Amino acid sequence: MGKRIALLTGGGDCPGLNPAIRGCVMRGLDYDFEFVGLTDGWKGLMEGLTMPVELETVQEIIKKGGTILGTSRTNPFKKENGVQKCLDTFKKLKLDALVAMGGEDTLGVASRFYKEHKLPVVGVPKTMDNDLSATDFTFGFDTSVTIAMDAAERLVDTGRSHRRIMVLEVMGRHAGWVALYTGIGAGADWTLVPEETVDIPKMCAHLKKVHARNKVALVVVSEGIKIPGQDSGKEKLDEFGHMLLKERSVGHEITAIIEKETGIETRLAVIGHIQRGGEPTLFDRILGSRVGVKAAELVAEKKFGQMVALHGNDVVDVALEEATARLKTVPTDWLNFSKVFFK
Ligand code: F6P
Repeated sequence: MGKRIALLTGGGDCPGLNPAIRGCVMRGLDYDFEFVGLTDGWKGLMEGLTMPVELETVQEIIKKGGTILGTSRTNPFKKENGVQKCLDTFKKLKLDALVAMGGEDTLGVASRFYKEHKLPVVGVPKTMDNDLSATDFTFGFDTSVTIAMDAAERLVDTGRSHRRIMVLEVMGRHAGWVALYTGIGAGADWTLVPEETVDIPKMCAHLKKVHARNKVALVVVSEGIKIPGQDSGKEKLDEFGHMLLKERSVGHEITAIIEKETGIETRLAVIGHIQRGGEPTLFDRILGSRVGVKAAELVAEKKFGQMVALHGNDVVDVALEEATARLKTVPTDWLNFSKVFFK
């Protein structure tokens, strides 16, 4: 009889998860694997929440946004008896292996389960933030930035008509990749990322100059920036200790500052979760499919405790522990590159 493999998706959803699930299942069928879908991330393993995952379930999901398995930010290591409950479900469902798809949090849990409890687990990286250090790109990022770039271009059209400065706030948490790529792609006049201290006088002087020439100026701001001299707010933390999106986003503060300092009417758009929905781009469909297929192959080879990664154009595997050790933030050379276009 074929092996029973569980699949789960944890953390924030992103386009590309369904192609990855599909890739894993379709490759797994070549090995005669039987799949069990655990719903809602680690909560599914903790509480034994399952759904059937067969060829019919996955064959048409390559273009579907979100995750058919559902997701959550549950951390079993933070729940009473959470870890034991997960181990019990694994046994009860007669599972042979688990494929966990997620970002640093979900994969951090996977890494601990492997290290501390010898759970046979393989990780698949996903996040729109693109902040996992062991892989060059994560699926979800390309789609999110494509959506944000489109939003930015729309803002410039309306901004130019009204002679305004337009500010677009994007997600990305503690890493500025989404803002950086959106800014470069949409031709922003200034981009604010968490990796760099905001220089308000310099930014405002530049925006005034651009506005005088172009009748519009575009600023892309990452949700994770800190404004000097401003309280970062009463941030709530999730079960992984990450800040949750604030009710009044940083974009509001920066917009008010720009309007006051430049004297130019300024408007803000916060696209939030719109960046996480919709069909995956071609890049994310291909990357999702590739890493999903590789995950099934790692299970077949019994290479547990590993995460699939993209190195250059090769799909390889790296130790989960190494993959979750640190965040990939924007380095100085990328910041300097983006500034070439602030003219
Ligand atoms: O990590 C992905 C991400 O979209 C971040 O960019 C953002 O800060 C966070 O998730 C939002 O989380 P939630 O969907 O739980 O509000």
